[in-house]
Formats: sequence, C-alpha cells, structure tokens
Amino acid sequence: MSENQVDNSKRRFLVAATGAAGAVAAVGVATPFVLTFMPSERAKAAGAPVEVDISKLEAGQKINVEWRGKPVWIVNRTKEQLDNLAKLEDKLLDPKSDGKMQPEYAKNTARAIKPEILVAVGICTHLGCSPTHRPDIGPADLGADWMGGFFCPCHGSKFDLAGRVYKGVPAPTNLEIPPHKYLSDTRVLIGDDK
Ligand code: FES
Repeated sequence: MSENQVDNSKRRFLVAATGAAGAVAAVGVATPFVLTFMPSERAKAAGAPVEVDISKLEAGQKINVEWRGKPVWIVNRTKEQLDNLAKLEDKLLDPKSDGKMQPEYAKNTARAIKPEILVAVGICTHLGCSPTHRPDIGPADLGADWMGGFFCPCHGSKFDLAGRVYKGVPAPTNLEIPPHKYLSDTRVLIGDDK
C-alpha cells in the first residue's frame, strides 16, 4: 500500500500499541518507525500531550500520530520544498497566517518552530476529512503548477506543504498547527508549549 492510499483512508492513521505502559509506534508504509511515548488511554482522551521521537524521520517523509483523538502530521520538508513555499503566496488565501490557526511561534512562512519540521492537525478545515499528502510536483490530477502539498479529495480543498489553504477552495482557513515544543533536537511534545 502506498502512503497516498494510507492517507486516502480518511482518518485512518495507523497507531499500534506496543505495551500496557502506553508506548506506541506510529507506522505507515514508506514512513520510518517512530516511537512515541504516550500517557494512559484515559489521559490521552483528556488531552494529555504526546511525545514523539522524530530522529528517524527523513527529509521528505511524513508520519501520523494521534493527539486528542485527532491525526497530527509531522512532516520533514526538504530544502526544495521549503524554498517553494515562498513562491506560492499569490495562490493562497492566507499566506501570512493572519488567521488564528497556529500559535504565535508558528506564524511564519513555514508555519513551524524548526523550518523543516511541520507539525499540523491533519483535518481539513472545510468539513473535517483528512487530506492526502501529495508532495509530488505537477501531477496530472492537480496541475502542472502544483508544488506539493495536501489535497482533500472529498471537495477539492488544497493546502501547501505548510498547511496554507489555496484560494478558491471550500476550506476557509489554513490547517491548524497544534501547540508544541521541542524537548530536544529529536523529540517533540505535541499538546504543550509551556
Ligand atoms: S472536507 Fe476537505 S474539502 Fe471538504
């Protein structure tokens, strides 16, 4: 199964519990094995932060983790993908992220603390489907000027690789960036930035 097929299964992000203590692995085809250290099921449901080891997340790859019952994407963007973000602004509805869809520290072109690492809630801001990761350049179905991003097939909303929404699509806002912070170079905590 390709990663796109995984993404096409709306909200079906693969999370395999590996122990009663709550350690889980977020897995997907063509994605690295990533350990997250998660609190108990009850604490998770209540919104406890989720710690994720991104040390094996290579440039261009994306993993899915679960936070507050929602899919959260972590994407390691390549330098080329970051460079392309600046070229898209005239196509975007809110290129400067003026909407309140991210913490203040993610109000920048990459919408991130570390430019290469996107942490975003993987739920379309139209009606709540989970968009597909489409990093391919100029695919036939999305057009020659597509520079990689996220596509929501149910009603055609498009987002760039920073989760910024395109003009003229049903989704009204950029994707949500959850509160998060780095505990070290390779460990990110989702759900807490204090
Ligand atoms: S839910 Fe994404 S376009 Fe409708």
